[in-house]
Amino acid sequence: MTGVRDGEWAVKAEGVSFVYPEGTKALDGVDFRVRKGEFVAVLASNGSGKSTLIKVLTGLLQAKKGTVRISGRDIREYSSKALYQEIGVVFQDPDDQLFCASVEEDVAFGPRNLGLPEAEVRNRVSTALEAVGAIGLRNRAVHHLSFGEKKRVAVAGVLAMEPSALILDEATAGLDPAGEALMMRLLHRLNRERGIMVILATHSVDLLPLFADRICVLQRGKVLKEGTAEAIFCDHEMIERAGLRLPYISGLLHDLKQYDGVPIEGLPLTVGDARKRLLELIPEALIVGKCLWRDK
Ligand SMILES: Nc1ncnc2c1ncn2[C@@H]1O[C@H](COP(=O)(O)OP(=O)(O)OP(=O)(O)O)[C@@H](O)[C@H]1O
Ligand SMILES: [Mg+2]
Repeated sequence: MTGVRDGEWAVKAEGVSFVYPEGTKALDGVDFRVRKGEFVAVLASNGSGKSTLIKVLTGLLQAKKGTVRISGRDIREYSSKALYQEIGVVFQDPDDQLFCASVEEDVAFGPRNLGLPEAEVRNRVSTALEAVGAIGLRNRAVHHLSFGEKKRVAVAGVLAMEPSALILDEATAGLDPAGEALMMRLLHRLNRERGIMVILATHSVDLLPLFADRICVLQRGKVLKEGTAEAIFCDHEMIERAGLRLPYISGLLHDLKQYDGVPIEGLPLTVGDARKRLLELIPEALIVGKCLWRDK
């Protein structure tokens, strides 16, 4: 983390503390930095301060101590219009950000407010709804949608603004497995193809190794550890302390190693990696027929 000049951090929070009026200390001296174009996950169990951090990073709450800089400028210097043009924010509860009667109107609200021509607005609405797999909801009433449907529409509304950064609180919570994978792949594509910075707060561990460049683990308002998925998930003691768990596939391979003596090197974090390592251990003689991966 050294050698990066100040202006190169898209988000830079230093020594941030936040106490709610009734006395709960939700953030306690948090340092959190994200470079342009990075995909960073804030991983923590319930009540650890993820949503509070997201709100502080997006100007909704003001840190009692410490500073937040966005693209090198103190967040307090931004008007909300200027800030939200740069950063798309998806809140944990979609009801906090959906307020129009129909899905179409809701997703169109932001682009229309930017004064874009109507044809461009309609185009953006279609593209955004398509991206989150919700094009079929276009003419539905928002208040009739299920939680997962609302979540997708909330993300579409943010995408329609074409922001240069995305900050999402539990973007996949409440989505079905296909919806979760679709959302993660969409975020990954936006990040890799368009260079959009992504900060994703989550307590769900299974898909992170595939998508996150870095993971920052919080516990009771403090940063417990920060690093690559490998560095995070190899620290079992820390994962346990944070009230988290290994990705299921890593948990299985960890147990095969630990309790059954299977000689697996390192700790595979994805199904693909685990499959490859296990195939390496199967003696040639036991493989009946063609093993495509081996034959490559
Ligand atoms: N409006 C509020 N007033 C008082 N305390 C609050 C408020 N919002 C959150 N808290 C408290 O602050 C702490 C951090 O909450 P926060 O919502 O940031 O956690 P979280 O990591 O997002 O949890 P979850 O995974 O359940 O969404 C918790 O102890 C919570 O009870
Ligand atoms: Mg939360």
